[in-house]
Amino acid sequence: MGMGSPSPMPPLLLLLILGARQATHASTVTTELIIPDFTASYLLFLDTLGVFLRSRNGAFVAAVYNPGGQKDRYYLAVLHGPSKTCVWAANRAAPITDTAALVRLTSAGLSTEDANGTAVWSTPSFSSPVAALRLNDSGNLALLDGDNATLWQSFDRPTDSLVSSQSLPAGGSLASALSDSDMKEGVYRLNVTTADAVLSWIGSLYWRLSNDAISVKDRDGTVASMAVNGTGLYLLAANGAIIIQVPMPPAELRIVQLGVDGKLQISSFASANSSASPMDSGIVTPSRGCDLPLSCGALGVCTANGNASACTCPRLFAASHDHGCAPSDGSTTLPSGSCKGDDGGAGGSTAISYISLGSGIAYYANKFSPPAVSGSNSSSCQKLCTGNCSCLGYFYDDSSRSCYLAQHQIGSFISTNSTSAAGTSGYIKVQSSQSPSSSSNKTLIAILLPTVIVFVLIVVVGAVVIVSWRKNERRAGRRPSGPSRDVQLRRQARSPGSASAHLVRDLDSEDDGEDVFIPGLPTRFTHNEIEEMTNSYRTKIGAGGFGAVYKGELPDGSLVAVKRIEGVGTQGKREFCTEIAVIGNIHHVNLVRLRGFCTEGHRRLLVYEYMNRGSLDRPLFRPTGPLLEWKERMDIAVGAARGLAYLHFGCNQRIIHCDVKPENILLADGGQVKIADFGLAKFLTPEQSGLFTTMRGTRGYLAPEWLTNTAITDRTDVYGFGMVLLELVHGRKNRSEHVSEGTGGAEDSTINTSSGGTAASSSRSSRNDYFPLVALEGHEAGRYAELADARLEGRVVAKEVERMVKVALCCLHEDPQMRPSMAVVAGMLEGTMELREPRAQALGFLRLYGRGFAGPSDGNIIKQVIVGGAVAADRIRSEATTMSGWPSYMSSSELSEPR
Ligand SMILES: *[C@@H]1O[C@H](CO)[C@@H](O)[C@H](O)[C@H]1NC(C)=O
Ligand SMILES: *[C@@H]1O[C@H](CO)[C@@H](O)[C@H](O)[C@H]1NC(C)=O
Ligand SMILES: *[C@@H]1O[C@H](CO)[C@@H](O)[C@H](O)[C@H]1NC(C)=O
Ligand SMILES: *[C@@H]1O[C@H](CO)[C@@H](O)[C@H](O)[C@H]1NC(C)=O
Ligand SMILES: *[C@@H]1O[C@H](CO)[C@@H](O)[C@H](O)[C@H]1NC(C)=O
Ligand SMILES: *[C@@H]1O[C@H](CO)[C@@H](O)[C@H](O)[C@H]1NC(C)=O
Ligand SMILES: *[C@@H]1O[C@H](CO)[C@@H](O)[C@H](O)[C@H]1NC(C)=O
Ligand SMILES: *[C@@H]1O[C@H](CO)[C@@H](O)[C@H](O)[C@H]1NC(C)=O
Repeated sequence: MGMGSPSPMPPLLLLLILGARQATHASTVTTELIIPDFTASYLLFLDTLGVFLRSRNGAFVAAVYNPGGQKDRYYLAVLHGPSKTCVWAANRAAPITDTAALVRLTSAGLSTEDANGTAVWSTPSFSSPVAALRLNDSGNLALLDGDNATLWQSFDRPTDSLVSSQSLPAGGSLASALSDSDMKEGVYRLNVTTADAVLSWIGSLYWRLSNDAISVKDRDGTVASMAVNGTGLYLLAANGAIIIQVPMPPAELRIVQLGVDGKLQISSFASANSSASPMDSGIVTPSRGCDLPLSCGALGVCTANGNASACTCPRLFAASHDHGCAPSDGSTTLPSGSCKGDDGGAGGSTAISYISLGSGIAYYANKFSPPAVSGSNSSSCQKLCTGNCSCLGYFYDDSSRSCYLAQHQIGSFISTNSTSAAGTSGYIKVQSSQSPSSSSNKTLIAILLPTVIVFVLIVVVGAVVIVSWRKNERRAGRRPSGPSRDVQLRRQARSPGSASAHLVRDLDSEDDGEDVFIPGLPTRFTHNEIEEMTNSYRTKIGAGGFGAVYKGELPDGSLVAVKRIEGVGTQGKREFCTEIAVIGNIHHVNLVRLRGFCTEGHRRLLVYEYMNRGSLDRPLFRPTGPLLEWKERMDIAVGAARGLAYLHFGCNQRIIHCDVKPENILLADGGQVKIADFGLAKFLTPEQSGLFTTMRGTRGYLAPEWLTNTAITDRTDVYGFGMVLLELVHGRKNRSEHVSEGTGGAEDSTINTSSGGTAASSSRSSRNDYFPLVALEGHEAGRYAELADARLEGRVVAKEVERMVKVALCCLHEDPQMRPSMAVVAGMLEGTMELREPRAQALGFLRLYGRGFAGPSDGNIIKQVIVGGAVAADRIRSEATTMSGWPSYMSSSELSEPR
């Protein structure tokens, strides 16, 4: 849970709202027109990554857009589909912050609202009701009235882009985005003036279209608009006559975009609905790095060297921590915007002086702005700057006797030895305190204060870690108990109640009898009701690590699987309920649904929907009985991948399964495939996603990072899923000793790295046994068909076998970062995403595993990564648990503390 985020609304509550408001059925993408009333959210359109409307030609889409894959900002946006370029965003300053938050189309207009129903953006009010929302083939999103007249359109409100057939009137502007994942207005602007198109950085110009070599001036005149089309970029007069143009080779679609780096890019597309570019792959301007205002940070000097550029500092300056430069004598430049809080008005406490930049230094803005004063001398230029509190430095040009002021902010300089700059000298305003002792005191404080704060923080964090560790140790001594989750629970305890909150009176003494609100618990059953539904636990359908699973029937006649959790008497009731509330509100067609639960005294029961065909391991590994045909295996792979992708990306908080294996993939008639036992491991909030506390998994599916200090992430599940894919292909356990029953885990649980004679002999046999290695060798030899389950006798689709093996091997890459995400895995399996090639060098470790090295060892592994990452203490514990055959389909990952 969101341990690190003191948000006003706990993630859990958001999740509940999400669960309550929407059944997660996939919605389909509409073409061209949408009629009110209509709602979309990222979650509702998860399968299309938020896309809900497509233009007729397929070139543009409207989407609830999540740029950069972050998890907090979603925008109503128009994208060029093939190139995934966002060409317009509605609510750039006010993103919606949740996957469940809505984009709503009503007869009053279009709006976006946050998960709690607060509108964050909406179209203005109209005199006539809205009859439709249309996305036309040019990417214009428009609201139409009953007569098809446009009430409002996105083309009139450009953000950072302009597309073919859109025009930007004189006086209009484009504003760059803050970053690739934040669409908020950044610091760069493109303005169309009555004479030109210009780029500026916080008010100071750094580019003019008319100055650029790419442009051609056709005639004089007043510019009325800027437009881009198949033959180029144009500044047009009111009558349509061309004033300035940038001719370009023919293309069907062009997109002009002001990038987050301040460069203007014109992309070309041979056809609107493809990402293919014609011969010219577009134009980026300014083309030379040194022409950007922040090419080398504040006060840095940019030296052009062919197409590349290098950064240095002026003579009397040194590199500063913020990528720029600062005076090396310890004086400080004036902060930008220092006018407002100017406390040196009396002229007493700080003294202004100037540091020369030396020769051969030009400032980018001087080329584009007129001098502040002409015909003055250098000292009056300096006086002008001193008297102007927003002036941060000045440039004086001897030859033209011109004085330029750098006001409000100062960017990078350009190193030049050209004659035009020879006579220019630049000076930067600095302040040094009159009393050196007070200055050194300030420096001392500046150094000491952070040090002290950091020291105190370290001590406090250290104390907390030690105390909680001690507490765990003590508890562990008292009874078989593990790491506490108190922090999470306290947070939960403070969360406000909601309409659906249940009050849980906690009976466990360690919980101090505190009353706990757990919002949104699923149906709570009494133990009598459970007895009734299971007919006093008559039909046992499995027994896993948690305890037995019984078949039951709810009063409404629907079948359920009741899991009786045993040996978890120490599990606090609050902890239990907290986890239940989360799991109970995750709904996806490929995830097993939790119907209810029971906690009475020390009883802990979970009531799940019933999956009549049991877990995948049974039909897949059993020696007799009907075989799983290839098509079914393919469907299972895709379904399970989608379920996991939803856990990783679809929920408000990331959930890592941590125990992906055939036993946790359940099947039912009608081709239903569902992941079971998710959420019984810990959940991750976005902030925590790199860190993990207590986790466990099952041997054979454990990723290499369990053995190292590498964080456990969603890619750990991807590894387990890769192993499952190979078992689907092969129809047997990857490690053959697990096929024969009764193999004790004890001997396997020791990590065997010896390479003696006996190991060599056993290595030969286990090498052939270790299917992932066989699959790798098959892949390298290009022989896929022979990897498929022999029992299918060739009833396979060769291309699909190859695809599944390749995807599986990609999932097994040793470096978690090199594994595809589950969403990509699902896409590749479906064939909707380009298949990646496995990399042999990232799979070399399989040879080690194959040679008898047991891999991450048997039984339970506990990995503790102390938050902060620097101190990572791994405690790896192996237990001689019998791993052979968890007959239960409700399986073996354990909620309990290790015994
Ligand atoms: C792309 O557009 C052309 C016509 O503009 C159309 O014939 C073609 O089917 C479209 N392709 C796709 C993939 O939509
Ligand atoms: C709705 O949620 C947003 C943030 O998610 C918050 O800023 C706003 O105050 C909330 N509004 C209400 C009425 O709760
Ligand atoms: C889309 O709408 C814009 C604005 O009304 C218009 O300029 C453009 O021609 C339209 N595009 C198509 C293909 O109809
Ligand atoms: C509006 O446009 C749609 C689709 O282009 C068309 O079917 C409909 O008849 C038009 N309605 C009117 C009133 O023109
Ligand atoms: C560009 O336009 C914006 C808004 O239209 C305006 O605030 C800004 O001052 C303009 N910048 C320049 C350099 O003209
Ligand atoms: C693009 O616009 C210019 C100026 O209006 C015009 O001369 C030219 O023919 C247009 N090109 C295309 C392909 O429409
Ligand atoms: C510089 O860029 C141009 C055009 O992009 C290219 O043709 C040229 O080879 C580049 N020169 C160097 C030295 O990289
Ligand atoms: C500028 O300096 C570079 C090397 O520093 C030299 O190659 C170049 O010729 C000089 N240019 C002029 C105009 O002096």
